[in-house]
Amino acid sequence: MKVPFFDLNQQFSSIEEEVKSALDEVLKTQQFILGPKVEALEQTIARYCQTQYAIGVASGSDALLLSLMALRIGPGDEVILPPFTFFATAGSVSRTGATPVFVDIDPNNYNIDPSKIEEKINSRTKAIIPVHLFGQCADMDPVLQIARAKQLFVIEDAAQALGAEYKPHPNLKGQRAGQMGDLGCFSFYPTKNLGAFGDAGMVVTDDHVLAERIRLLRVHGSQPKYFHKWIGINSRLDTIQAAILLVKFKYLEKWTEARQRKAERYRELFQDLLPFMADLRLPSIQYENRHIFNQYVIRVPKRDQLRKFLIDEGIGTDIYYPLPLHLQECYSFLKHRRGDFPTSERASEETLALPIYPELTEEQQMMVVESIKEFYRK
Ligand SMILES: Cc1ncc(COP(=O)(O)O)c(C=O)c1O
Repeated sequence: MKVPFFDLNQQFSSIEEEVKSALDEVLKTQQFILGPKVEALEQTIARYCQTQYAIGVASGSDALLLSLMALRIGPGDEVILPPFTFFATAGSVSRTGATPVFVDIDPNNYNIDPSKIEEKINSRTKAIIPVHLFGQCADMDPVLQIARAKQLFVIEDAAQALGAEYKPHPNLKGQRAGQMGDLGCFSFYPTKNLGAFGDAGMVVTDDHVLAERIRLLRVHGSQPKYFHKWIGINSRLDTIQAAILLVKFKYLEKWTEARQRKAERYRELFQDLLPFMADLRLPSIQYENRHIFNQYVIRVPKRDQLRKFLIDEGIGTDIYYPLPLHLQECYSFLKHRRGDFPTSERASEETLALPIYPELTEEQQMMVVESIKEFYRK
């Protein structure tokens, strides 16, 4: 038996006919850019995120870039974000000409540590980008409080967190990933909980003006066609991707709940190892947040040796992310050194993502955990 890190084939087989007929519909219309399917997906995602507006774009990276452009962030501005994230969080800031300013993470949930934000704010600071890493919301109350007090914009990088909730409460609205900041950015990269058959992304917001700006900026700022109000980019969501995502959306809750059950099962299977391994950390859920487990990331000693051992056993894993952004070659001009953000650096050295997807079987999960136990017994 093998346990691939992820396996999209099984999911596809379960919806193959529905997807093919949705594709057929698009092929018959020969409309491939934006159109009614994209509008239907935008309405679906806006409703799901409890926001007024959603704007389909070409990728999660573009969702971030367009959000920054809509806020008119550019050269001379600074934007605060964690260094332990996918590159796009910082890359989008740099693309606008602004400077990313890093703030270390909380070791328990790998998200930005709000207690370290204020010391980085100055007159150039324009926005904060909290990242809801692995599918759990960052600690948004203090982030929003700081942003309000200092008049900063908040862009949520919710690329990995569609459907996540912060401090969920049955009588409280307004806690969905993407709806708490000024703008929320999502990715439909194929391995996300809701994944396209290629690149696709979405921005959500309650702000009418920002929504309209992003709608224009994604089509080179043109309104009407060939008359350009602003300098935008080409970042339209393909009709084909929207058609596929509309089919898959019907199963999103079911798939996310299956991921949550797999996460709970991992927790149970690891229980007897925990007393003997003080430095083994399972994902911890803060404030009973709704974690959607886009990734199941553990912290372990001898991470690289364990990973190699698991490969030999036929078990796929991945490392998100092996080098924090402040130490990336392209950011050498920021003059950071190892030691500047120790929690992010440790996380990049010690964390390992285990296979998690709705179709992962009980036997496969047991094999993953048994193999890890065997490695540490040796
Ligand atoms: C945290 C984070 N931000 C941004 C992105 C960018 O999304 P995309 O790959 O759709 O451009 C991703 C996707 O991998 C991500 O995980």
